[in-house]
Amino acid sequence: MMKKGPFDLVLLGPPGAGKGTQAAYLAKAYGLLHISTGDMLRQAVKDGGVTGLEVKRYMEAGELVPDDIVTKSVVERMGKPDASSGVMLDGYPRNSAQAGTLDESLSEEGRELATVLYFNTPEEVVIQRLSGRRVCKQCGKNYHVTNMPSAKEGVCDICGGELIQRKDDNIDTIKNRLNVYKDNTADLISYYRKKGKLMEVDGGLPAGELFEQIDALFKREGLI
Ligand code: AP5
Repeated sequence: MMKKGPFDLVLLGPPGAGKGTQAAYLAKAYGLLHISTGDMLRQAVKDGGVTGLEVKRYMEAGELVPDDIVTKSVVERMGKPDASSGVMLDGYPRNSAQAGTLDESLSEEGRELATVLYFNTPEEVVIQRLSGRRVCKQCGKNYHVTNMPSAKEGVCDICGGELIQRKDDNIDTIKNRLNVYKDNTADLISYYRKKGKLMEVDGGLPAGELFEQIDALFKREGLI
């Protein structure tokens, strides 16, 4: 049961820290609306067109997609009626310009972030996770070849769809994504810490254990 009023939350951490995995737990447990900019951009690529082609180039190289494209999609999504009770942002903001835009958009609505959940996760862990990640082509569910395997190799447990490897989950692109994170996103840790918004969790924990830690933290801080 969430507290009254919009509950807005950011999931922050390096690629492969488990943000998407925990977002699924949190959405189920608290009914939070999960907004993943990575998923939105992958959908834009599928939809094609000029924007899709441009987005594809950046994503496949592991570079950040230009702020104007990402921010427009996030602001539009946050303006929909189902976002009025709060959102869980996964993959946004990713640099200081996006963080500033988010602050402004929320304050225009008389809202502010309840918290920023930072997944502190060692580099060797994220490399192991990303290189073994598999995603269902049909429903998008995430797996890992050893950490979270599907019952039948290559087949989604939920919908029977084919499990594939994301184009940006090859070792060279993973390393670039980590550099891009260090150069652009890591500064947001101190930005939100200074604002008293940061809650740090151990992203290296097994998924179920990490969710229990987050749930306990939210309860202790009176967020839920
Ligand atoms: P995006 O899709 O956001 O990718 P990411 O940030 O690189 O994050 P990931 O989805 O790779 O990792 P995750 O932390 O969600 O981990 P997951 O739970 O899947 O972005 C992709 C691209 O889009 C960017 O490179 C950029 O080009 C563009 N983009 C997106 N947002 C943008 C923005 N705001 N501005 C500009 N460009 C933007 O877990 C990973 C694996 O580990 C899985 O296999 C999972 O099964 C396993 N796993 C998860 N948790 C655990 C655990 N606790 N223990 C063991 N295994 C685990």
